Amino acid sequence: MGGFIIGTMTSTAEASLQGQLIRPYGSQQRQKRKLLVSIRRIVFNQKGGVGKTSITCNLAAISAALGHRTLVVDLDVHGNTTEYLTQGLDTSAFPEEARGVAAMFGNSVGAKRQRVSADTFVWEVPYDNLYLMPSSPQLATLERELEVKHKIFKLREALAELEGVYDRVYIDTPPSFNFYTKSALVAANRLLVPFDCDSFARSMIDSLMENVEELKEDLNPDLLFEGIIINQFNSRAKLPQAMVEGMRADGLRVLSSYLSSSVKMRESHASHRPLVDLAPSHKLTQEFVALYQELEQM
Ligand SMILES: Nc1ncnc2c1ncn2[C@@H]1O[C@H](COP(=O)(O)OP(=O)(O)O)[C@@H](O)[C@H]1O
Ligand SMILES: [Mg+2]
Repeated sequence: MGGFIIGTMTSTAEASLQGQLIRPYGSQQRQKRKLLVSIRRIVFNQKGGVGKTSITCNLAAISAALGHRTLVVDLDVHGNTTEYLTQGLDTSAFPEEARGVAAMFGNSVGAKRQRVSADTFVWEVPYDNLYLMPSSPQLATLERELEVKHKIFKLREALAELEGVYDRVYIDTPPSFNFYTKSALVAANRLLVPFDCDSFARSMIDSLMENVEELKEDLNPDLLFEGIIINQFNSRAKLPQAMVEGMRADGLRVLSSYLSSSVKMRESHASHRPLVDLAPSHKLTQEFVALYQELEQM
């Protein structure tokens, strides 16, 4: 049996989502498609609040809106991506097998270990072509055991199994260089680093790049650093401009499509509607589209 569907709903639907959830979605998901080169992007910065979740979800939603089958993987125990894309489902109340990422990893340890197809852990969300492997609170309790038992390749194996099923994979990460982040760096082939033009964030970029480089050499030489995404950019302030120029001068690759700051982003999170759905012609949405296109052309 396949994964789970969150029933078709509109953003204003007030029906209990729990009641609608968990409907096996059948085998059509496994239909192999080889139209696009498979891209698995990890969005990572060990600083919180820089826009990892916002960028993951909004790039993924644009990809899906353009007709690409797009999978989002939420590796942050706080589940902001899961909440954003599912209207705030309480995943802790779900049966074990419906717990997405935690179920996928949990399946590889202990007596109940079994071979289950990776699409079992994927949910449909109420947007065409968009799919989610959700986070749940159990990620926190599992982490130590997964680390001790060297389960670092499990996500890579799951995504390899889904190759051809999804054209694009976007992986959201926690604000720390922990087991789940490392799993994602091993599983991905592209890396994006959001940056919020804060001097504390700047001081963390060098150690981030060093950590990534080391992991890359040992475990995933194919990982391509696509660049730093400038988020919440204020073009009228001098400091952000100087910081971006400084990063370029230091040889860091900075993407040329900047994202500005807008209250629309908060509205988008609060209404659980990605920008491309909530406000397709808004300036910030258009900046996301430009960023998406810049990345697709690389
Ligand atoms: N471009 C933006 N404009 C305005 N607010 C933003 C923007 N990007 C992110 N935010 C806000 O900043 C906060 C942190 O963003 P989030 O994507 O959750 O970061 P992270 O996942 O790195 O912790 C959220 O409240 C989000 O709404
Ligand atoms: Mg986040």
